[in-house]
Amino acid sequence: MPLILTIESTCDETAAAVINDRLEVLSAVVASQEKFHEQFGGVVPEIASRAHVERILPVIDTTLKKANVKLGDLDAIAVANRPGLAGSLLVGLMGAKTLALACDLPLIAIDHLQAHIYACRLAAGKDVFPCIGLIVSGGHSNIYRCQSPLDFTPLGGTIDDAAGEAFDKVASMLGLGFPGGPALQRAAEKGDPKKFRLPRPLLDDDARLEFSFSGLKTAVRYQLFGAGKPEMDAAALDPQLVADMAASVQAAIIDCLAGKSLLALKQSGFKRLCIGGGVAANRPYRERMEQLAAQHNFELHIPPLSLCTDNAVMGAIAFEKFNAGQFADLELEISAGLERPHLAR
Ligand code: KG4
Ligand code: ZN
Repeated sequence: MPLILTIESTCDETAAAVINDRLEVLSAVVASQEKFHEQFGGVVPEIASRAHVERILPVIDTTLKKANVKLGDLDAIAVANRPGLAGSLLVGLMGAKTLALACDLPLIAIDHLQAHIYACRLAAGKDVFPCIGLIVSGGHSNIYRCQSPLDFTPLGGTIDDAAGEAFDKVASMLGLGFPGGPALQRAAEKGDPKKFRLPRPLLDDDARLEFSFSGLKTAVRYQLFGAGKPEMDAAALDPQLVADMAASVQAAIIDCLAGKSLLALKQSGFKRLCIGGGVAANRPYRERMEQLAAQHNFELHIPPLSLCTDNAVMGAIAFEKFNAGQFADLELEISAGLERPHLAR
């Protein structure tokens, strides 16, 4: 039975998995770097790439041991080579190329964003294509027409910040720490989502499949600290005000994501929506989408939390390429793309 080792190092998680052609996961390891970046309030690219260098071999080694598999048992090495932080991507790619060369194995290139959507295929345990794919992560908010696992056409996306970036930046303004998304979700539980009037940019424009979250960030800043004031003293904020703002921002982001998802389904005529990426771990967002799916009669797929945030299991999309004979050569390069990651400022 063919086995693939998948490697993921696009941002700040070093991850590997061994998967068989029935898409069964023999082992999966994720080494998070949260504790390194926490003190800077966001991912620091240089620290991320250095941490990947230290972790990549132990992570691969542990993954193989857990699966009880030797390098010689593998049939291919797959690696996410786009998009992401250039230095982080390079570490995974070099590791994958070295193994492919040393073990004389074919190399497979994974698009990290397509892999996020493929997490829905894994979670569903059945085909989920064709579908509308929405990626909501720290670096991206993209909408795709996914005809098949090998055929993704971009339909739209954010014109400035990503949804996760908005969660992270507002969380930092509110003094909630890093990573911001989960912290903001927790704070919002005690807040009133109607307390602050915040914009839902582009939501009324039913021709454009686009998001814009940067104005939301500014609106939050002005309402909390006043227009044009340089200081932002989160420690001075009243805890109830923090909770109310967290709930209000979360509601605004969810409204935008939900509205454009419905628009993409309407425009395409598709009846199936697959959502991937870290923000898909947000509980109120998941609940809202489930309500909408029941109300508007479409099939919804959102992976379990561990498959929403970065991992190597979703690299199982490599089997689609393996079966189609789509291999990369050792000249394969990284493509950082238009990544706007949740970086430290
Ligand atoms: O997909 P991911 O792990 O990494 C990227 O490819 O960017 O997504 C990370 C993003 C971060 O912005 C993080 O704050 C956000 O996902 N996130 C959440 C939640 N969990 C993670 N945002 C809102 N609510 C959450 N529960
Ligand atoms: Zn990701």
